[in-house]
Amino acid sequence: MDIEPNFFETNPKAGIVGQPLDRVDGRAKVTGQAKYSAEFNQLPGLVHAVLKTSDVAKGRITGFDTSAAMKQPGVVAILTHQNLPKLAKTPNDPEGKKAIGAPMGFLPLTSDQVHYAGQPVAVVVADTLERAQYAASLLKVQIAAETPIASYEDPKAQLFDPEKIQDGKTKGHTVRGNPQAAFASAAIQLTHKYDHAINHHSPMEPGSTTAHWEAADRLTVYESTQGVSRTQKALSAMLGLSAEQVRVVTKYLGGGFGCKGSTWPHTILTVQAAKAVGRPVKLALTRPQMFTSMGHREDQTQTLKVGATKDGKLTALIHEKTSTTSPWDNYAEPNSKIINLLYACENFEASYQLARANVMTSTFTRAPGEAPGSFALECSMDDLAYQLGIDPLEIRLRNYAEKDPSTGQAWSSKSLKQCYARGAELFGWSKRNLKAGATRDGRLLVGWGMATASYPVHNSQGTARARLYADGHAVVQSGATDLGTGTYTVMTQVAADALFLPVEKVRFELGDTKLPTAPNSGGSVAAGTVSSSVYMAAQDVWQKLIKLAVLDKKSPLYKAKPTEVAVEKGRLQLKANPQKGEDFAAIMKRAEISDIEGNGQGLYGSGYEDAQAAANADPSKKDEAGDHSMHSFGAHFCEVKVDPELGTVRVTRWVSVHGAGRILNAKTARSQIIGGSIFGIGSALMEATHRDQNFSRYTNASLADYHIPVNADIPDMTVEFIDEKDPYINAMGVKGIGEISMVGVAAAVANAVFHATGKRVRSLPITPDKIL
Ligand code: MOS
Repeated sequence: MDIEPNFFETNPKAGIVGQPLDRVDGRAKVTGQAKYSAEFNQLPGLVHAVLKTSDVAKGRITGFDTSAAMKQPGVVAILTHQNLPKLAKTPNDPEGKKAIGAPMGFLPLTSDQVHYAGQPVAVVVADTLERAQYAASLLKVQIAAETPIASYEDPKAQLFDPEKIQDGKTKGHTVRGNPQAAFASAAIQLTHKYDHAINHHSPMEPGSTTAHWEAADRLTVYESTQGVSRTQKALSAMLGLSAEQVRVVTKYLGGGFGCKGSTWPHTILTVQAAKAVGRPVKLALTRPQMFTSMGHREDQTQTLKVGATKDGKLTALIHEKTSTTSPWDNYAEPNSKIINLLYACENFEASYQLARANVMTSTFTRAPGEAPGSFALECSMDDLAYQLGIDPLEIRLRNYAEKDPSTGQAWSSKSLKQCYARGAELFGWSKRNLKAGATRDGRLLVGWGMATASYPVHNSQGTARARLYADGHAVVQSGATDLGTGTYTVMTQVAADALFLPVEKVRFELGDTKLPTAPNSGGSVAAGTVSSSVYMAAQDVWQKLIKLAVLDKKSPLYKAKPTEVAVEKGRLQLKANPQKGEDFAAIMKRAEISDIEGNGQGLYGSGYEDAQAAANADPSKKDEAGDHSMHSFGAHFCEVKVDPELGTVRVTRWVSVHGAGRILNAKTARSQIIGGSIFGIGSALMEATHRDQNFSRYTNASLADYHIPVNADIPDMTVEFIDEKDPYINAMGVKGIGEISMVGVAAAVANAVFHATGKRVRSLPITPDKIL
């Protein structure tokens, strides 16, 4: 389609895109009008499900004693592997797993096998939640327990080289150049090991499902998911239904961070329970169950070898990762990707090792791969700087990658040098004492650290529909989700500018498979894909109106060529003679139509087979789009104060500057970077789930024991964006900021801790015991 007008050129500065508009859904949320997935309580005959889970991590179910539980008032059913309705497909075999797009190659309640602690072994359904909970407590499950394997550190664990890790793209072993020889002959050689604790996503809203069979072959599911379409695909495949027979609705989300990016067992178990009892069923995971139901960031150790010249230029990077996976899947976060491209280095090698243990499959957790990968790389860059007496920022500039070292491609845009310069200026980096352990504030040790951030612009596509009414309002729709980060708000802004309407006149709807398909809100793709879809849908509206006008004898534009007509502030006019034209409402009124619908497809990211299919930000650059590597970049600067007697670390100042293409809303974007950075500070200083090595059970599965930063732990944070125009990525020039906010954060903190104390902690989280 002819993209006219080009948003990139014509979007007036006075437009609403980019402005710090308050959340359009803010009022609904604070007044309780916003309905989350476990709040559809008016469904007729709704009953409640509770999961009974296994305490043992490995074994075989030998029997159930349901008698006491079944006698309780209100109990509707107790479902186990013996009586649960059979599915058309399960993820238990590789083909089924592929068809479903399941995160885990095992579905509980399909056999008597127990593979991990917290695995559901029964679903108890009752008329109230309390009755279901009580009955579940009376249900006795006999399990013949065996000795589990808890992690790759278990002496019984067997390490293996996966050919591929589960993202399907990352090879188990990658080599570029001649890394071993380059490392062996390097003037400077560093070899360090980095450990990362298990992290859980811990979104405020736990996973929940409300399943309603409206007919034997028609299902509606209210689901706490980051993607309604992906959930629809998984459920319809498992149930043997067509996609149209399964509707998935997610109007609001209380966070996800990756754990709601896939369809986990509790969802299909709730759907099956609803089928079995013939009534709508609701299930909400408890907070402890959130630690064993929706994945986690895996326990992992990385070894990074860095070869460099005496003036600090990298000559070799050799990365090895060892991590724990489940009995069925080869999942590992792809840590090596960022190490392969962040700095200019000709020789690179990465390998992955996995060990099977009695745990559920781990999954993407905010900035999967980039977060722990950047921890290893950015701490090593700091080590290199100290060893050579070079400023940590200067050493990064000496290794600045002018093109993507992993592919040789030019960057579509890269504002990293501006991020470094602006961040350093805001932070006062030039005043830094080069010596570690040499700055005090009273009895506290003061340290400054920094790190680089980067995140790819992943491939994605989406669709949207825009309906413009002659009375000057519009309804715009896309089946996207809003994690709470602002999709509703920013898409309203994009639609308002693209349709030349005030924001109050635009309603944006999302979160329903009845709407045009959109991708998961994950991998930082939603903002770019959906905004481009909305923009394209608006262009479709204008194209249709232009066609109406030029065929209408009464229009001043009659017989003009459509390509000669431009739209300015809702007025269709001749490009060559703007005086000649008329308002869109006048055209619609004469044609006696009250509204007009446009549809748009937004393509996003690099690597399309047909790069020209992508509606790029600048249409004149379309042909070149496929040749570019597309990434966001940024820099974090951190100050910590460390108590030398207690070993406590407090982050006291924070500056982040990012170049991430067009920023759609200054306020929600700033909030998202703050949120992601706090997520990173959590993983740096507090967050760790402890798995008992004998029983393979988590010992701190609650928010009382799984520590996350609270307001008192976080200082005022300074966040800025570089004004960056990327002509290649998509029609809106939006790169997305969900993940980059966390990348490099843990390293910036660890580097500041080193600067404060002279002690390098390479094990996350950096708890007081590791400092003392
Ligand atoms: Mo994000 S970890 O891709 O939901």
